[in-house]
Amino acid sequence: MTPTSRIIPIVSAATDYRAQDIARDYSDTLFDSLRRPLRDLRISITDRCNLRCTYCMPRAIFDENHSFLPRTSLLSFEEIERIATLFVRRGVQKIRLTGGEPLLRRGVEQLIEKLARLQTPAGKPVEIALTTNGVILAKMAQRLRDAGLARVTVSLDGLSESTFQQMTDSHVSVATVLNGIRAAQAAGFDAVKVNMVVRRGVNEHEIIPMAEHFRHSGVVLRFIEFMDVGCSNGWRMNEVVPAREILQRIAPHHPLQQMDPGYAGEVAERWSYADGAGEIGVIASVTQAFCQDCTRARLATDGKLYTCLFAGDGLDLRTPLRLGESNTVLTNLIADQWASRNDRYSQLRHQRDNTARGKIEMSYIGG
Ligand code: GTP
Ligand code: 5AD
Ligand code: SF4
Ligand code: SF4
Repeated sequence: MTPTSRIIPIVSAATDYRAQDIARDYSDTLFDSLRRPLRDLRISITDRCNLRCTYCMPRAIFDENHSFLPRTSLLSFEEIERIATLFVRRGVQKIRLTGGEPLLRRGVEQLIEKLARLQTPAGKPVEIALTTNGVILAKMAQRLRDAGLARVTVSLDGLSESTFQQMTDSHVSVATVLNGIRAAQAAGFDAVKVNMVVRRGVNEHEIIPMAEHFRHSGVVLRFIEFMDVGCSNGWRMNEVVPAREILQRIAPHHPLQQMDPGYAGEVAERWSYADGAGEIGVIASVTQAFCQDCTRARLATDGKLYTCLFAGDGLDLRTPLRLGESNTVLTNLIADQWASRNDRYSQLRHQRDNTARGKIEMSYIGG
């Protein structure tokens, strides 16, 4: 068998969560209208960022005239902790802090400390992860780890200065982000991952250099298909490099073997280097949508709850929270929203006019 012939498209069926994980107590878990459990909560803690990635916050739109959310609109750490606690009681096992750039939120360590104390109804600690652009990670990594952060994912779209600066529309140097990644490794997180969004004609030539740089490093590099999230990134299908193609480019240089998923509903498809140099992943959100297993709820910076990355509108939790509503009222709001959930945007993408809907921006809802 040639290495490339191993890359066979996989048609994944919906996961039978009950059969797969019978030992787990499902009595508290919320299920949506497509029988998908609530498992992950992604919390955007700021809509601001110190980069302007062209696929996320294009400078023409996110310029000095853009109005970011005022401080009073942001959920406080106490408010985030309260909402997160309610989610954990109803099934959430993993919380990911995102943004914008979450490390720009002052005192983020204190929020991590609060969230790291949460336990599932079965008494297990909730796993706290964070996605960052790595620009100020070097000086913060150890503090984040000490506060209880379990895992960190760093966005990096290339190793050549010019490509990186073009993708991020900034003057930040690649070395700054690589230092952040090294500091994260030294801090002893359970896992350090790197996310690379691949855009045809822009950074596709960085696929092999990035793969080679992170071989033998212990860092898991994931290649992400460029998505049509939000309304401002000028997405076109011909700029998507399909995950299959990415694997087919790497395999002739470094043969790959498919790995089992780490958990039910994992977004990345995992591959290991046949020579033992480590693991990579592909996130095929466009060409092989994974909505059938989507267990993710998203809490936006201002306390709106979204049940899909591509949703047009969210449920305001901040107002009832600030009106002093009880945990029961808040939980019922969350439960009703999850119960009526039928989102599967990526699976329906090709049937829709993607430009027509008022989709929210990724920096506000969180990656
Ligand atoms: P872990 O498995 O916990 O490491 O995290 P993850 O696989 O959820 O990965 P991460 O949070 O780093 O997500 C990686 C990227 O996958 C995101 O930045 C998005 O581009 C994409 N992604 C994550 N979740 C979704 C989702 O629900 N829908 C779609 N369409 N894309 C998603
Ligand atoms: N397509 C794919 N991924 C995106 N991200 C942001 N915008 C996009 C997009 N248009 C992801 C990147 C980054 C994380 C914060 O969000 O992976 O790592
Ligand atoms: Fe900032 Fe991340 Fe968006 Fe880039 S992808 S602009 S680093 S939030
Ligand atoms: Fe989940 Fe929506 Fe992404 Fe599908 S498109 S995987 S439903 S967030």
